[in-house]
Parts: sequence; C-alpha cells; structure tokens
Amino acid sequence: MNSKPIVAGNWKMHKTVQDGVSFVGEIKNRVLDKAKAKVIFCPPFTALFSIVETLKGTDFGVGAQNVHFEAQGAFTGEISIEMLKSTGLDYVILGHSERRHVFGESDTFINRKIHAVLNSGLVPIFCIGETLDDRKAGRTIVVLEGQITLGLDGLDSIDHNRMIIAYEPVWAIGTGETASVEQVVEAHASVKDILSGMFEENANEVPILYGGSVNENNAAELIETKGVDGFLIGGASLKEDSFCSIIEIVSKFYKG
Ligand code: 13P
Repeated sequence: MNSKPIVAGNWKMHKTVQDGVSFVGEIKNRVLDKAKAKVIFCPPFTALFSIVETLKGTDFGVGAQNVHFEAQGAFTGEISIEMLKSTGLDYVILGHSERRHVFGESDTFINRKIHAVLNSGLVPIFCIGETLDDRKAGRTIVVLEGQITLGLDGLDSIDHNRMIIAYEPVWAIGTGETASVEQVVEAHASVKDILSGMFEENANEVPILYGGSVNENNAAELIETKGVDGFLIGGASLKEDSFCSIIEIVSKFYKG
C-alpha cells in the first residue's frame, strides 16, 4: 500500500449523508500535507457513495465499517461486498470490538469476512484488542494471538499492501483512557511476532494502527511509539479541527 502513516476515521453510527459530505468537503479543502499521511474516512453505509463521489480525484481513502461474507441472498439488513465495491470504496473495517461485543461476532465469523474481502480485492482493516478483564488477568497477548490466528486462519500468505491491522484495546475505546506507550509497544510487537510466526514474507510490514481515545493531545506521543503505523480514530474523527490536527501531527511526527 504505502509506507505512509495511516489516519483512519471510524465514524460509527454518526452523521447523515449531508453532514458527512459537507464534513469531507471541508477537510478536502483544508491545507493538509497530503503527501505525508494516508487518510481514510469510514462513514456509515448510507453516506459511502456520496462521500466517494465528493473525494474523487483526491488521495483520500474511503472504507465501510462492516460487510457480510455472502455474495447475495436472504440476509435482511446486510450489505454485500459487491454493493460496497459499487460505491467505489477501497477499505472495510472488520472485527471491530463493537461488532464483537455488541453484535456477538465470533472469530470464525470474522474469518469468513476476511477471506471474502481479500478475495474481492478490498483491503480489510482488521481490528483486534483485549477487554479490561483480559488485561487484568494478564491475558492480553493470548487474546491477541487467538484473534489473529483465528481471524486469519486459512490464508496462505499476507500482503502488507492489502491488509491493515488495528490494535484497539476495548477498555480504551471511547473512555478517554489510552493505552500507555509501554502497553502499545508490547502489543504491537506481539502482533508482529504472531504474524511473522504465521506467514513468511512481509508479515512484519503489515501496518498496525493503534485505536482507543486518540486525540490531538496524545497523538504525537502515540505516533512516535515504536510499532505504531497510524491510528483508527472514533470520537476525534467526527470533529473537523481535531481530525485535521491529528493528521498534521501524524504527518509531522511519524518516523516510520
Ligand atoms: P475512540 O477514538 O472514540 O476511542 O474510538 C476508537 C475506535 O473504536 C475506532 O474504531
């Protein structure tokens, strides 16, 4: 994909089509150092097509927040990969903690989505992360290992240009509490080790994003942290000033 840091905004269930289009339109017109960071917007399904259209001809990326693995059929309320592709987007978030914990998605269910998305040519943003109970019980690395090995089960290889991993400790999402630098270093290094154990080439070049209460005040320290290749941002990605500040900080402080 690129060696640029990635700044992805997961809007979750926020913004109408009109709000979303005007938001990305504003950001597009701000002077951002576009050469230094890959920025990806992940709006709700309803806004995808219009946002792709608004961003045509720019370097901004667009992603969905979920998809179903079946090609079509009687799956009321679901969206297929072809439907997503017809909007012109490139990325799909999979395995987000809210999908796992609020909607009960299992590792095997997520694994089917990973295969379907990779087969389609779209790029998964594959989310993993431990709960507070897992961390307190000293099970963080075991949990990450389980999520990665089951989530990526059955893949013969991994292409660092076609896969993004997001480490999002569940206890840091939307809480205002970020993981410490030491915790992030340890988790990201473990993810790289687990990937290298599963796949041969390029596994440790897969970009690993950090997510969980990233904002303009902690972004500099986090982007300078070893093993952090960018961010997956919830709350702060909804506010123009915050999101633009984070993009600028990432562009300035990322050392690669
Ligand atoms: P917050 O940045 O609001 O903590 O959300 C993180 C997240 O879940 C991004 O996917």
